[in-house]
Amino acid sequence: MSDGERMPQGSRRAVPNPSTSQPPNLSALLAAWFVANARDLPWRFERSPYRTLVSELMLQQTTVKTVVPRFERFVARFRGVASLAASTEQDVVEEWAGLGYYSRARNLHRAARIMVERHGGEVPRTAEELRALPGIGAYTAGAILSIAHGVRAACVDGNVRRVISRLDGRDYGARELEARAAELVPESGPGVWNEGLMELGATVCLPRDPACLLCPLGKVCRARAEGTVGQLPAAKARPATVAQEASYALILKDGSALLGRRPPGPLGGLWEFPGDRVPKTKLRETLREKLGVAAKIGAAVATARHSITHHRIAASLFAARLSAAPLARGYDGLNWVRMESLAGLPLTAAAKKLSSALLTSAPLQTPP
Ligand code: ADE
Repeated sequence: MSDGERMPQGSRRAVPNPSTSQPPNLSALLAAWFVANARDLPWRFERSPYRTLVSELMLQQTTVKTVVPRFERFVARFRGVASLAASTEQDVVEEWAGLGYYSRARNLHRAARIMVERHGGEVPRTAEELRALPGIGAYTAGAILSIAHGVRAACVDGNVRRVISRLDGRDYGARELEARAAELVPESGPGVWNEGLMELGATVCLPRDPACLLCPLGKVCRARAEGTVGQLPAAKARPATVAQEASYALILKDGSALLGRRPPGPLGGLWEFPGDRVPKTKLRETLREKLGVAAKIGAAVATARHSITHHRIAASLFAARLSAAPLARGYDGLNWVRMESLAGLPLTAAAKKLSSALLTSAPLQTPP
């Protein structure tokens, strides 16, 4: 404190009288906590609408831990909307390799081209314009508006739903929750409020074992006062899981494996070992359809389990030999890829798991 600011002798700082003070200002409590406790994430120390757009899209279905290094690489390679728009879709999808849900990469690329054509290369500032871009729904539009542009807009993801439902001590239906979230966003600092809620949900107000003692909203949390934190929000009913088999072929030539690029549609643009979500007995038929040639199927060389929504998939990779050179009948393209180069391609989740199972398993049996 400088001399000029020194408090006069004997004076006291004003302390609110607890019995007459205002109801707690939620946004001030959360903002103070966020400023002191926010994780040091790369889209936070340097802010721009473009960086917010990229980070929010990456964070839609991928964990913060996975996103951090990939975000930094992505924005170093595509430095802004214009550079993204000037790249090819393939470049963008390749840079997205490993993050999954590749439609996000294709949408981001298309969105960049639209922003160049219609918005002078800027990230739009209205919900209507943002929602008109491919891949941007209510959540991402709200995050960009509030965090990047300081516009009063809500964004509700799973973390925010949990925090609000506990704060109010009740469950909300989807529409009610949107309305409540919108009502809570302050005029001033909407981005800090939204990011603070996300951060609180990710680090303190956890689904199990929340750290209520560390919570800046603990004193005003209804669920905490009523002892219902553990029950809120109520778990959503999930569709029953369905078990499925998937069979793929490991076809080798000079030490390289044959991969097919999936056509537009589900998992479009991603590479996989030729095959499909079919049992082994249907693999020959599938290879004939997709590669236009007959195949001899041998033993399984790798297996992996993965889930897509409510499907629990048991995938197997079988050694196989083709009767002639393959044709890209059911694929957008075919490629012979060395095993050590597989990781550099945007692979389907099944192909990624099968190739790592293969690389960590015993030496390959020779094809039939
Ligand atoms: N999840 C979604 N958006 C986020 C953000 N901005 N920071 C941390 N986690 C997030």
